[in-house]
Amino acid sequence: MRGVPSYAPPAASASLAVQATPERLALGEKLVMSSCADCHRNPQTNTLSGQLIPDLTPDFGRIYSANITQDKTHGIGGWTDGQLAALLRTGLGPDGRYRLVMPSFVHMSDEDMESIIAFLRSDNPLLRATPVASHAQEPSFLLKALTNTVMKPTPMPTQPVLAPAPTDAVAYGRYLVVGRYKCYECHSKDFASNNALEPEKSTGYLGGGNPMLNREQKAVVTRNLTMDENTGLGDWTPAQFAQAIRFGMSPHGPLAYPMPKYSTLTDEEVNGLWAYLQTVPKIKNATPEDGAVTQ
Ligand code: HEC
Ligand code: HEC
Repeated sequence: MRGVPSYAPPAASASLAVQATPERLALGEKLVMSSCADCHRNPQTNTLSGQLIPDLTPDFGRIYSANITQDKTHGIGGWTDGQLAALLRTGLGPDGRYRLVMPSFVHMSDEDMESIIAFLRSDNPLLRATPVASHAQEPSFLLKALTNTVMKPTPMPTQPVLAPAPTDAVAYGRYLVVGRYKCYECHSKDFASNNALEPEKSTGYLGGGNPMLNREQKAVVTRNLTMDENTGLGDWTPAQFAQAIRFGMSPHGPLAYPMPKYSTLTDEEVNGLWAYLQTVPKIKNATPEDGAVTQ
């Protein structure tokens, strides 16, 4: 049985120096709160100093998010902007070690990524240098096997990555689903059969049914986001969709962790998501709120 493979360190840009404009800090805060904090926030320190990830089912093992506070020894205080960008793009640290379970944001726009980096350098209390070491990983055999087959580093983009204009609602919505918020990662069939480079090739793309755990360690499955009328969102109104993703109130009842709270989504984002979901091939896949029984 092979362990997690090691790789050559990624080609980090030596010249990247992100300017922290007010726009970037605001966008970076919004993106870190929606897409990083649920995994990285430690409830004891109340900083992003890392924790046991609560929502992974035990078949992946015990996986701990890392300390990404500004601590120079234990956090990312000593990393360059180029090293951070390379980690977010490829999943590889400057040491060439593949970061398990940490999503690779390969389709995120350069501007979004640099906004995240700007915020990670800011004086927000969540990032206060916290001198605790990141926990060693305890991957299961399954997870080790997956890192030898499907869960692999993604390549550094060779071209600038730009987000489509919000006026092109469908293209913008696709960008939000695969690039910015990565809804498809949780909402396709299984983490083990996702395709990071070509997200639409993930098994059961956006059809839900991926088994996760909530904060009480009870099983939840993600829901079908395709427009199937019986098992998906085909019978929802745009207002119900907005209410569900912004405030966690679905027509089926309240939504809880691990569904993130996207309370800061703009109208353009909500409209784009809804417009894009209309174009995704429908999948018939009943989840428990449709009356399906799961073990
Ligand atoms: C699904 C949970 C999850 C999400 C979401 C997530 N991370 Fe991580 N992250 C991890 C895990 C787990 C590790 C440690 C992996 C390892 O050591 O093998 C990690 C490692 C890292 C590291 C490397 C730190 C080090 O010292 O090795 C950085 C930097 C990082 N994450 C930043 C982010 C940022 C920024 C975001 C949001 C854009 C984010 N992460 C979202 C789980 C997550
Ligand atoms: C970290 C995993 C994760 C991510 C990322 C995620 N979701 Fe979810 N989502 C869930 C889970 C789990 C549920 C079910 C929650 C529950 O049962 O309380 C859910 C439920 C939903 C529902 C309710 C559907 C219904 O039938 O009631 C909608 C709508 C939804 N998500 C949309 C989105 C959108 C849009 C995105 C991206 C902007 C997204 N989700 C990102 C995990 C996730």
